[in-house]
Amino acid sequence: MKEDATIWISGTMHNIFSIGQILTELDFRILNVITWEKNNPPPNFSCRFFTHSTEQIIWARKNSKIPHYFNYELMKQLNDDKQMKDVWKLPAIAPWEKTFGKHPTQKPLSVLTRLILASTKPNAWILDPFTGSSTTGIAANLSNRKFLGIDKEEQFLEISKNRKLEIEKPSIAAKYKEKINGFHDKKELSLFLISEPKEEWVSELKL
Ligand SMILES: C[S@@+](CC[C@H](N)C(=O)[O-])C[C@H]1O[C@@H](n2cnc3c(N)ncnc32)[C@H](O)[C@@H]1O
Repeated sequence: MKEDATIWISGTMHNIFSIGQILTELDFRILNVITWEKNNPPPNFSCRFFTHSTEQIIWARKNSKIPHYFNYELMKQLNDDKQMKDVWKLPAIAPWEKTFGKHPTQKPLSVLTRLILASTKPNAWILDPFTGSSTTGIAANLSNRKFLGIDKEEQFLEISKNRKLEIEKPSIAAKYKEKINGFHDKKELSLFLISEPKEEWVSELKL
């Protein structure tokens, strides 16, 4: 990770506390713990517990002294001009996100797109070392960021590759950008991406 990089780690109640503990031991600074509240969680069939309807995502910074990037203004815009809270109400994955088969724990593009736009600049490199069907990569590439994914299961890399090839078709990429949840209307994501300052890009071209 670069010195000014941040890390996002998603988990459930079973492991999120251990992850928080490990990050602290490694001197990371925890910035937020996002609660993703699913609009449409699966029911609890045992009827002996509350329905599990949330996942937690820790956002942490590698270096406690070097400032991190946060697109405060965009997050506020997406929350009707009020500060974005750390509880995100977004639906679980939709059928159009499973074109090439579903990964058993596939994340929705809406969650990944929001966290990428909040914490990275255009053309940034994003790494997901547990990439699965590469929702992170699809959200990154649709948002003009670069992506590297790693997974130990070939079958999931196959889904990832097919998803990547699919969004190389401009008409499909445009359609998906219209469908991603968390924006006021179909055009908001595309219009934001066009208007997003491209400083990183310019400095790379100078090299
Ligand atoms: C929770 S899933 C990721 C799902 C992904 N976010 C998506 O939307 O499709 C975690 C992935 O990590 C992979 N994995 C687990 N242990 C790994 C390891 N040691 N090295 C590489 N990949 C690993 C699993 O095969 C699995 O696909």
